[in-house]
Amino acid sequence: MANYRIAPSILSANFAKLGEEITAVIASGADIIHFDVMDNHYVPNLTIGPLVCEAIRPLTKAIIDVHLMVEPVDRIVPDFAKAGANIISFHPEASRHIDRTIGLIKEQGCKAGLVFNPATPLHYLDHVLDKIDLVLIMSVNPGFGGQKFIPEALNKLRAVRARIDACGRDIILEVDGGVKVDNIAEIARAGADAFVAGSAIFSAAKDSDPHRYDTVVGALRAELAKV
Ligand code: DX5
Ligand code: ZN
Repeated sequence: MANYRIAPSILSANFAKLGEEITAVIASGADIIHFDVMDNHYVPNLTIGPLVCEAIRPLTKAIIDVHLMVEPVDRIVPDFAKAGANIISFHPEASRHIDRTIGLIKEQGCKAGLVFNPATPLHYLDHVLDKIDLVLIMSVNPGFGGQKFIPEALNKLRAVRARIDACGRDIILEVDGGVKVDNIAEIARAGADAFVAGSAIFSAAKDSDPHRYDTVVGALRAELAKV
């Protein structure tokens, strides 16, 4: 079985008690904190920045996976590195110099990822597959949680999986948008090995039970065990 990672998107967490939410979701067995950064410019929504990343960093040793939905990209990268991000991913259309942005992220001591919107072609991988650590395939248009999974993402995942396997490097293939208990196995079969899930996890429980996410994270893992 592949080394599958579950990455709750805190976009759907209760922001009034974000620290508790992070502690609870990691205690439930999730692997990665997915941190969605939106700027009301590249995407039509506004979320959280480096200050929030810095505030949550001491709460967990888990990887903080920063998904930048911002334009321009480069100015904010060092701020997230200082705030404790482990992986920083960006949309190639939002950077004027993609190779330079990848270099900047790595110089700052972080792993670098490229993010593909549903209609963004994969040719952006052509000359950077030897440098990146993660490919993130969007299975919804970016900007909001709670949208429906776009099935064409499965074809895209298969294509990227083939390219990653052919290049032989250890590159995470992450999927983001509309991932649920009832489709995660099919998505894994298409080649993903990291699964962002926002609404599926955080709307599964609303109480103050520190084990409130055990059931849903367990159900996601049980589905992955069938692959
Ligand atoms: C969308 C974000 C996603 C989103 C996923 O722009 O990148 O991470 O929060 O949410 P769900 O799992 O609810 O589709
Ligand atoms: Zn995201």
